[in-house]
Amino acid sequence: LPDVKDLSMDSGVQQMLEKARAEGIETAFDRAIKMSQCGFGATGVCCKHCLEGPCRIAPNGKGAQAGVCGAGVDTIVARNFLGNVTEGTASHAEHAREVAHAILEVVAGKAPYTIQGVEKLKAVASGLGLSSEGKDTNQLAKEVADKAMEDFQKQHGTLNWLELRAQDKSKETWEKLGLLPVNAHLEIAKSLARQVMGGDADPANLLLGAVTMGLVDGFAGLHMSTDLQDILFGTPTAVKSQYRLGVIKEDMVNLSVHGHIPLLSEKVVEWAGKLTDKAKEVGATGINVVGVCCSGNEVLMRRGVPVATNYASQELPIVTGALEAMVVDIQCIMPGIQTVASCYHTEIITTLAYSKIAGATHVEFTAERADEAAKEIVLRAIANFPKRDPRKVNIPNEVTEAYAGFSVEQIVEALRAVNPEEPLKPLVDAIAGGQILGAVAIVGCTNPRKKQDHDNVALVKELIKNNVLVVATGCSAHSLGKFGLLSPEGLQYCGEGLRNVLTAVGQANGLPGLPPALHMGSCVDNSRVADLLVALANYLGVAVKDLPAAGSCPETHHPKALSIGTYFIACGVDVHVGVNPQATGSPLVVNVLTADKENFPVTTDGLFGGKLIYEEDPVKAAGLLIERIKQKRKALGLN
Ligand code: SF4
Ligand code: FE2
Repeated sequence: LPDVKDLSMDSGVQQMLEKARAEGIETAFDRAIKMSQCGFGATGVCCKHCLEGPCRIAPNGKGAQAGVCGAGVDTIVARNFLGNVTEGTASHAEHAREVAHAILEVVAGKAPYTIQGVEKLKAVASGLGLSSEGKDTNQLAKEVADKAMEDFQKQHGTLNWLELRAQDKSKETWEKLGLLPVNAHLEIAKSLARQVMGGDADPANLLLGAVTMGLVDGFAGLHMSTDLQDILFGTPTAVKSQYRLGVIKEDMVNLSVHGHIPLLSEKVVEWAGKLTDKAKEVGATGINVVGVCCSGNEVLMRRGVPVATNYASQELPIVTGALEAMVVDIQCIMPGIQTVASCYHTEIITTLAYSKIAGATHVEFTAERADEAAKEIVLRAIANFPKRDPRKVNIPNEVTEAYAGFSVEQIVEALRAVNPEEPLKPLVDAIAGGQILGAVAIVGCTNPRKKQDHDNVALVKELIKNNVLVVATGCSAHSLGKFGLLSPEGLQYCGEGLRNVLTAVGQANGLPGLPPALHMGSCVDNSRVADLLVALANYLGVAVKDLPAAGSCPETHHPKALSIGTYFIACGVDVHVGVNPQATGSPLVVNVLTADKENFPVTTDGLFGGKLIYEEDPVKAAGLLIERIKQKRKALGLN
C-alpha cells in the first residue's frame, strides 16, 4: 500500500487513513488503488446507448471503427460528453427547483422559514422586471419564485434567469447559434432524447447541445440557486471560521452536514442551537455541527460553521470515532460512508426520497416538515453520543483559521472602503496597471485518484506568485482553507503587486489584509464568479470573453464540473481541468473543445472565446492559464 502521505496533503486525513488501515477499514483512497480505470471508458469511446452494444471503438484505427449501428468514434464521444454535462445540469437544476418550491411553501405559510434577504429579493425582482411597490416581502418573493418556476414550465421564449444574469454580448452569440434554452426540464428531456440510439448523430451538433445544457446549468442551476438561497437565507458576508478534522470536539455531540442544498443544513444548525440542554443530559457539553463538501460551504458562508473535510476524505470524520451522525441530502455523497459508519456508532441519515443509501437511516426532509425532520435528526445524533466507543476515539488536533463569505456584494463592499463612488475602479486600475495580472476561479473538488489538496494548492500558489487574483468555490476552496490560503497569512505566497493590493483593501476594512484567495461559496456559487465577471466587463464596456480571466478545476471528480465548465466556456472563459474529462478518444471533440489545432474549422474558442485546457500537472497548468491571460491582456491593449 502506498504511504498515506502520498494520498493526501492533509496531516489529519493521513492520520485517519493510518487509523482506518489499522482497523481494517477500506476508504475511497484504497478503493481508487484497487480499481483500475477502463481504457475505453477513460477516453469516452464506449457506447451503451442500445442493446446491440455495448460497442467500443478500438484506438489507433485498429479493430472495429464503428458501432453496430454505424456510429463512429466522434459521435460516440460527443454523445457521452453531452450525457455527462446533462447529468451535471440536472443536479443543479433540481437543486434550484427545490429552493424555488420551498420559497413558494414559505410564502404560503406552509414551511417554517422566513425570507431573510430582503435587499437581494428587491434586486432580483427588479432584474426580472417586477416592481416592488406596494408589495410586502412575501408577495414579492412569491412573484420571484413564480418566475423561477416558469423556467421549468414555459414552452416559448428564453430562461428568465438567463435574461436576468447573462451579459447581452454573450446572449447575442448564443442567440445567433440557436442555443438559447427555453426551460430547464424541456432542455434536459430534449438532451436525453437526442442522446438516444437513432437520435442526434452529428458530433458537432451534439457538442452544441452540450453548450445549451451548460447554459441551463449556469442560469437555471447555478444562478437561480444562489439568488434564491440569498433571498431565503441572506447574502453571505465575510466570516472567520476553522478548517480540518480538528474541528470535531471530543466532549460534544458531533453532527456533520454533507451534500448541497442549504434547506436542510440551515435547519440542522438552527435545531442544534435549540437542543443544547438535551445534549447536556447525555453528558456532552453541547452540539457541534461541522461541514463537509458544499453543505459545509453554505453554512460556513452564512453561519460561520467550521468545515471538517472535503470530498475525497468524507469517510474520515467517521473514522475519528467521535461523529454521532452524518446527515446528507444530494450530490457528491459516497455510498461508502455507510460501510465505514457501520464500523462505528455513527448514524448516516439520508433525507431525500430520491436519494437513499441502503443501510442508512432515512428521515424524510421536505420544506414543509423542516422543523420536525431537523429536530429528529439532531435528537438522533444526541442519542448516539452514549454509544461512542472511547477506545476508538482519536481526533486529529490541527485546525486552520480561514475567512469565507466573499459574495459579490461583500467584495464590492470591501472595495467601497477604497473608492466609495466607483468601487470596481480600484480593482480595474490594479489590473490595468499590472499589479494584478488577471483572475482565476479555482473550482471543483478533490478526487481520491489524486493526492488530495495537492494540485488545488500548488496551482493557486503558482498563480498568486505571478500576481493572479484567485477566487475559489466548492471543495477546492476547502483545500485552500486547510493550507492557509483563505487567510491573510497566505499573502506571503503572493507576488508583490497582488500582495500590495490585497493588503491595501484589507487594511481599508480593518484587517491586516485580504486572503490571497477569496472564498465565494459552494459549487452553485460559481454564479457569483460569473456575476463578478459580468460586472467587471460591463464596467469596462467589454465582453466577458475579453477579460483576462479563467477558471480551473485541478482535482475535480463530478460531471457537474463539466456542466459548470461548459457554461463558463460558453461565456468566453477558458476552463482548465486537471482530471481526464473522458473525451480524448475523439479527435473532433478534442479539437472543438481545446482548440489546440490551428485552422480547425469550428472551435469553442472561435465561437465563444473560451476553450478547455486539459493538463494534469498543476504548475504547467498555471503556466498555460497565465499565458492565455497575457494574450487577453494584450488584446485589451494592456502590458
Ligand atoms: Fe453500439 Fe450504436 Fe448501440 Fe451505441 S447506439 S451501443 S454504438 S449499436
Ligand atoms: Fe459542491
